[in-house]
Amino acid sequence: MSSGNGKSMFSCKTASETLEWINAVIEFIEPYRFLIDAHVVNFFKDGLWEAVPKDWMDCLSKDPIQNLLSIPSGLVHDHWPVSLKEFVLTLKSLSFPRDQANLFQEFPGLDMTSLNNVLAQGMNRKKKHEIEALAAVVSSVARNIGSTRVVDVGAGQGYLAQVLSFQHGLSVYAIDACLHHGKVTDARAERVRKYYASKMRKSGLESRELSIPKTVTCQVLSANMLNNLSNSFIQGEHAKKPNVVSGIMSEQRKGPHESELPSTSDVFCSSSLILAGLHACGDLSVTMLRTFLESDQVKSVISIGCCYNLLSEDDSDKASSVCGFPMSKGVKFTGFALGRSARDLACQSAERWKCLGEFAGLHNFELHAFRAAFQMVLSFKKVLSQYYPKLLMESPSIGRQGKALRRQQHQKILESNLSYEEPKFFSASSSTNISKEGSRFAFACTESRDTEKKVAGSCCDIDGLSCESFVESSMNEETRSFDRFSLFLEFCHSGLSRLGLHYLSDIELHKVWEETEPFSEQGSIVEAVMLPIFDPVLSPRNVALIAKKRTTPV
Ligand SMILES: C[S@@+](CC[C@H](N)C(=O)[O-])C[C@H]1O[C@@H](n2cnc3c(N)ncnc32)[C@H](O)[C@@H]1O
Repeated sequence: MSSGNGKSMFSCKTASETLEWINAVIEFIEPYRFLIDAHVVNFFKDGLWEAVPKDWMDCLSKDPIQNLLSIPSGLVHDHWPVSLKEFVLTLKSLSFPRDQANLFQEFPGLDMTSLNNVLAQGMNRKKKHEIEALAAVVSSVARNIGSTRVVDVGAGQGYLAQVLSFQHGLSVYAIDACLHHGKVTDARAERVRKYYASKMRKSGLESRELSIPKTVTCQVLSANMLNNLSNSFIQGEHAKKPNVVSGIMSEQRKGPHESELPSTSDVFCSSSLILAGLHACGDLSVTMLRTFLESDQVKSVISIGCCYNLLSEDDSDKASSVCGFPMSKGVKFTGFALGRSARDLACQSAERWKCLGEFAGLHNFELHAFRAAFQMVLSFKKVLSQYYPKLLMESPSIGRQGKALRRQQHQKILESNLSYEEPKFFSASSSTNISKEGSRFAFACTESRDTEKKVAGSCCDIDGLSCESFVESSMNEETRSFDRFSLFLEFCHSGLSRLGLHYLSDIELHKVWEETEPFSEQGSIVEAVMLPIFDPVLSPRNVALIAKKRTTPV
């Protein structure tokens, strides 16, 4: 279904409109399943290009390379066959728009300033652009919902966390699985702190404690885990009763929204927080969204996903397993699966291809053709067994397939390690005492999905505070779902009896509920928007999912 000019006719305003869009995408791509299920190497190796209509091939093989590179961006040319033009335009009309939104319009009063050299140290142009925009958006949302606490999930080296802390005056926890990243974050934060302290001294401002991000080294494996971590941060702050709220000066001015910050008592009575993630890989972004939906404390989530290839997908053998894709009940209902190759493909960027230029574009195509040829050679077992018997034993795979193999092996090691561990929620690798600067929680966390539900009340000492009952009862999800069903039941009974129908036993309300509930998604309690917040040429993964909880359901 194309609008003829490539303009999108779809919207995500409601769950049903979103589902309409999704269904249109599914309908469009299903006939090309053999292409999206294939690696680009197979395109050459298995002769998939033979499935491309002859008149398209005849035309495209004579076209300048630039015309090919701009196909993913939806650019068509007059001399192309009508069916090719229609195909590309339909594709364009179905894709999510990536043009950068006008952030000042979307977020009135947005405080977006260029980062000073100290805060921007180590960032390349892309990162600086991303951090400036995202930090401003998070700060604006924080102001809007009256929260001052942010958890930066998958914080890397803490770029976002530091800007939110020092420039926007927010209280930030930076979680990352990598211990090295935590150490770099701390070292960076200390340098930035010294810079601001000296600046305050020089300008004769009274010496105030500077809020610096608290780093947490932990591999987040589930929403339950992130929820419990977030709660522990809140409890830790309440227990600490600090004597200062950070409203740190930014360049040449007082704290960005110091006057708008809630008073100290408000802040520490409040137990709300925001989850923010810049390119949190694969399932980590999904975990953030789930945590947002499940946690009472998390009032907003701002997430820009990445590494879609790392998303876990529904495993039909384990009907109840929690997977990264699809998260939406509506999509689950369609039974649509992406598959590994499609997820790999999703990491490609139309903008990047368009801007590649002739030389780099050709080089890319040549590289893939070479890779395909290499793979064909490798798959000749005779050659392998003679010259590379070891490689043959380890099953030949190159490129992304090789990466996938390594990932699978890594996952196996992780799982076997977990199965040896005692069933526990966290294994604290250190006393987790906060260091002198008060900036660091370091504890390695492991969690077994299987044991998670069984173990309640494991404890972990964070910031001197014993956090009991880390694990929410596994009943929660079911209980909430049951509560909603009973409300639905009540609603139906009263409605039907008002219509004069008293014999309800014939109507299988549970069945009706099961069929309709997936489509309600979270519309009544959550306000959400997907907004491209970065320049797609600089940063192709630029769509932020920004959601906040409504105070009153609609
Ligand atoms: C693409 S990097 C982004 C880093 C940072 N947000 C930035 O933009 O500079 C993703 C980060 O997420 C971390 N990460 C991935 N999976 C994680 C998990 N399950 N729990 C915690 N951190 C994770 C990685 O260690 C990595 O530092």
